[in-house]
Amino acid sequence: MTTIPLLTLNDGYRIPAIGFGTYPLDNPQAEAAVREALAAGYRLFDTAARYGNESGVGTGLLSFDVGREDIFVTTKLRGADHGFDSTLRAFERSLERLKMSYVDLYLIHWPLPAKDLYVESWKAMIQLQKDGHVRSIGVSNFLPEHIQRLIDETGVVPAVNQIEMHVDFAQSGLRAMHRKHGILTEAWSPLGRGAVMENPVLNRVAERHGKTPAQVMLRWIVQTGSVPIPKSAHPERMRANLQTFSFKLTDEDMRQLAALDSPSHRTGPDPATCTEE
Ligand SMILES: NC(=O)c1ccc[n+]([C@@H]2O[C@H](COP(=O)([O-])OP(=O)(O)OC[C@H]3O[C@@H](n4cnc5c(N)ncnc54)[C@H](OP(=O)(O)O)[C@@H]3O)[C@@H](O)[C@H]2O)c1
Repeated sequence: MTTIPLLTLNDGYRIPAIGFGTYPLDNPQAEAAVREALAAGYRLFDTAARYGNESGVGTGLLSFDVGREDIFVTTKLRGADHGFDSTLRAFERSLERLKMSYVDLYLIHWPLPAKDLYVESWKAMIQLQKDGHVRSIGVSNFLPEHIQRLIDETGVVPAVNQIEMHVDFAQSGLRAMHRKHGILTEAWSPLGRGAVMENPVLNRVAERHGKTPAQVMLRWIVQTGSVPIPKSAHPERMRANLQTFSFKLTDEDMRQLAALDSPSHRTGPDPATCTEE
């Protein structure tokens, strides 16, 4: 089984360098996939209230003989629950569905600037951390102005910003801001949901290393110092996606891959205008 390196967050807690995504699996699918992923060696699991599968993820994690301290569970606050009191209540419900006494990382799923309640939610997350219910707190899909506002209004810097990031949507500007504040970048859709897999440049780099395009995409993220959270419902792909620590992309590979990057390759909503509940 692959041993996954750990990275240290700005609050001192440690996070596995690759994780397992669970969207859009339903509860029974998530339960089965999490069991397979644990057996393959994954220790970081990503879910969200909005995915409707926290219960399946929690059951899958319970059914395997691994200590709670050895796994890292992330869940997220959905848009409909933004606000101080509603964040506390939503967290309680997530914890019940997960069947856990704490989560390792709690994220605000989207900033929803039109609602303008994310600072209130952030204050509730700071409270949850102080009370010991959550180890690390962070955000997802936050732009620099949203992060800056959290810092200005509370003095607490998120440990993580989980953002859309794949080799052809590299997010260098946002990552530079993360570096300045010691925020770890987690990459969602690290495989770009498959869109770039046929790209000839990517395939040439993969052939040179005797790896698949997916493994090169994940390795590229790891080499930027970020944490990819690929999803697969197939055990053989789950295992293959973990094989990201046994090879290294050269400076020339990185230069060639940089040419794939374009801001137009976003596959998900734009955080500036997104209103996802
Ligand atoms: N914070 C957010 O707003 C946000 C948004 C989206 C996603 N996420 C999180 O990020 C996770 C990953 O993102 P994602 O699921 O959108 O995209 P992804 O991991 O980039 O891509 C998943 C797709 O790639 C396929 N795949 C997996 N491994 C492969 C391989 N080795 N070769 C070829 N195809 C492969 C999967 O199919 P099979 O399952 O059939 O293998 C699935 O169709 C999600 O599961 C979720 O936990 C967070």
